[in-house]
Amino acid sequence: MEPSDKYMFKHRECYFVQDMTTPEYIDSLENFEIRDSDVFLVTFPKSGTIWTQNILSLIYHEGHRNGTEDMDLLDRVPWLEYNIRNVDYVKRPSPRLFASHLPYCLLPKGLKNGRGKIIYVARNPKDVLVSYYHFSKVSQKLEEVEDFEVIMERFLAGKVIGNLWLDHVEGWSAQMDNTNILFLMYEEMKKDLRSAVLKICNFLGKRLSEEEIDDVVDMASFGKMSADRRANYTTLSSDLLDFSKGSFLRKGTIGDWKNTMTVAQNERFDSVFRKRMEKLPIKFCWDINDKL
Ligand code: A3P
Repeated sequence: MEPSDKYMFKHRECYFVQDMTTPEYIDSLENFEIRDSDVFLVTFPKSGTIWTQNILSLIYHEGHRNGTEDMDLLDRVPWLEYNIRNVDYVKRPSPRLFASHLPYCLLPKGLKNGRGKIIYVARNPKDVLVSYYHFSKVSQKLEEVEDFEVIMERFLAGKVIGNLWLDHVEGWSAQMDNTNILFLMYEEMKKDLRSAVLKICNFLGKRLSEEEIDDVVDMASFGKMSADRRANYTTLSSDLLDFSKGSFLRKGTIGDWKNTMTVAQNERFDSVFRKRMEKLPIKFCWDINDKL
């Protein structure tokens, strides 16, 4: 079953969410002017974007940490290619924080030329797939498909938002040695959030006190974020997300794929992905009890 073009459109070999951006806008991003102080968080969808958006917001905004400012993540760390609130990004004060799912090849030139900083977060693709499947029920902008196998085949063929996971991660991991890119894994964040937060702070040159780091780690926990309307997207309109069908923060763990994928589906997944995954310069963690 092919994906419906009611939900996605293809531009420059890449799928985008229908009605949330345009081919012209995507093209214009190549020349989007980058400042040295800009920070971009890039992910394949369902890899821990909201989590890292929240961490960035907590690191940069004292008013978020101490609760004196009530601002949505979407306004703190808006989407580059989906300008949902129709904000003039050029007028945003520095340092600007952005989130994006763009493949490396579609990035603004300035970023490729070393301006700004990029944090790329990757997650094991089976958890990504299962998260995407469940999220497609909550999201009004994704096609809801009841049969997991159909979504899995689309994922394996790259017919989902973000395209082929392998292409995305290969493209980005080829840039791992760039000094303006920090490569993080969802699983390392899950296993040791404090170390991941410190890594992010070091990379960004942000000096926070021990107590401030503790606050960031505490407020970025799954439990705290699930209850914090500034950090769980519950303020988004019902034409984007239908929370009667589930939450943005669903399980937040490693290895939940085993609860959805059958043995046969897992074998099928491996038969398509394994060879190229083995060549990636990344070690994957498939279960919460596995060592990194
Ligand atoms: P699950 O659906 O597996 O629970 P994205 O923001 O890229 O769409 O990713 C969403 C995934 O990140 C969801 O995965 C969500 O639960 C998980 N996530 C969000 N915040 C988290 C947190 N604080 N700790 C662990 N996982 C988190």
